[in-house]
Amino acid sequence: MKNYQTNVSNILIIGAGGAGLRAAIEAKLSGLSVYVIGKRPKEDPHTVLAAGGINASFGNVDNGDSWQQHFADTFIEGYGIGNPKLIETMAKEAKNSVLEIDSWGANFEKLKNGDFDQRFFGAHSFRRTCYTGDYTGLCIQNALLRKTKELKIPIFDSEYVTKLLINDQQCFGAFSLNTLNGERTIHLSDAVILCTGGHTRIWKKSSSRKQENTGDGLYLALEAGCTLIDMEMVQFHPTGMLFPEDYEGMLVTEAVRGEGGILKNGLGERYMSHYDKERMELSTRDKIALANYTEIVEGRATPNGGVYLDISHKKKELILRKIPKIYRQFIELQSLDITKDPMEVAPTAHYSMGGIEINEEDHSTKIKGLYAAGEVAGGLHGANRLGGNSLAEILIFGKIAGKKAVDYSRKINSLPRSYKEIKNANDDIDSRIKKGNEIALPLMKELRNIMWEYCGVVKNETKLKVGINKIKEIKLRSEEVEVIIDTNNFQDLINLLDLRSSILSAESTIISAFNRKESRGAHQRSDYPEISEKEELNYKINLNINKELEINKSNIKNLNSDLKKYLLKTKSFKDIKNKLLE
Ligand code: FUM
Repeated sequence: MKNYQTNVSNILIIGAGGAGLRAAIEAKLSGLSVYVIGKRPKEDPHTVLAAGGINASFGNVDNGDSWQQHFADTFIEGYGIGNPKLIETMAKEAKNSVLEIDSWGANFEKLKNGDFDQRFFGAHSFRRTCYTGDYTGLCIQNALLRKTKELKIPIFDSEYVTKLLINDQQCFGAFSLNTLNGERTIHLSDAVILCTGGHTRIWKKSSSRKQENTGDGLYLALEAGCTLIDMEMVQFHPTGMLFPEDYEGMLVTEAVRGEGGILKNGLGERYMSHYDKERMELSTRDKIALANYTEIVEGRATPNGGVYLDISHKKKELILRKIPKIYRQFIELQSLDITKDPMEVAPTAHYSMGGIEINEEDHSTKIKGLYAAGEVAGGLHGANRLGGNSLAEILIFGKIAGKKAVDYSRKINSLPRSYKEIKNANDDIDSRIKKGNEIALPLMKELRNIMWEYCGVVKNETKLKVGINKIKEIKLRSEEVEVIIDTNNFQDLINLLDLRSSILSAESTIISAFNRKESRGAHQRSDYPEISEKEELNYKINLNINKELEINKSNIKNLNSDLKKYLLKTKSFKDIKNKLLE
């Protein structure tokens, strides 16, 4: 094996989105050495696509909000399978995080009295979403980048982690490949924090950009011996763009509906009254995505196969001030002026609510020294994520994971570093460079079509079985992928690595979906249309899956009894509320 470059730090963070940067800042402020690596540009992570805002229960616009009510809304709207402790922490800490990131320059919109303005986001009991126009995630990411610069935290883009280094169930670093020049690096650290995002790029229609969210962190964690939780819970955002083809699925922020946008089908009917009469367009994402899907498949679609999202009845000045990015997006990509005409939209895969199973207190995983935060970690959102909770999640849990990794680093005496493990990581890359009769990108495209067709908004046993078999075929064919390396081009190899992560993420998702025999939130099964009340059909259960793709069930943690009374106050789910409270 060559003498590769070695980087040594106390804490290695994989992923330079919001969670990764917030974790890095915490570790650095604690006085330890930190190193952040990520495969994509740090200015353009999935964080920047969370456009509409970040939730915190300030109650600046509506009186009466509290962190307890934020807890209750999140738990109930997650259909009772989110981890109560994680939700409690998020709801409690959100205000501090918003204040902190604003003081670092996120520049949230303020009311005349200087308090944060707060907008409506679906299914919150109060206006709770703080925002900067419709580019909140971007402002947060920029504020975090400025802070990391001030703290001189090294961040390296274009570093693709191919393997976590594990010995004796303990993580001692990672092995990476530079996507531009192919150089390999050994990263040695006391602790590693995975902040690599989710896997929603593996659906044909996705709000993720090319080559992000291909499930890399899920793959690394499974290979290391971790388990994933509730992988079947994938959020389809109700409103993605339909065209141009390269932008199919691109997010049309919930802020459009938060600012008064309405949905109509191709026949001109405002249909949300059939699905959620009370909350209409401000219902939950799972309900609106299902409504949009139903209108489309039942033949009431718009000319381009979607539904209309219309905000043209609002004043132009409001549209330009509150959702300027969406205004530009439609002018630039479709020559459509949304102040005059409706947009055409359809559901798009947006967020992985399942992910790596973590300890709810310290964000550690089953492997010592390995932590996870942000979208790659599971457990917070249950079966449906409330819009605006993910930006809170990345800041709060990034910070906690950073702090806990520091505590761990200070505590450990020695690391079981293993040359053999490093050599295995290196050999693994070498073994991929070979002649073959398949090419990675077309296989990736097939995989994305399979996930959309057989594991999309509505599933059933027959579809899932066909999907599972088709993914197995793709997996077999992926062994035959040709990887040619020349001095300028490592893209073949990168594509294959993305495919490898995507296949394992797809398998763990579709097998989990097959095993959850009920409909709950974002997980809709036409053959089991109701929330199950039967233990054996997964009532109030989390599903865990390991590298061997074996499913285990675990019970939801008990609710803090002081918080139960807040659940009764939520407006929604009168039908299931009592079941959740049993
Ligand atoms: O619709 C949106 O702006 C997305 C926000 C989120 O995913 O939290």
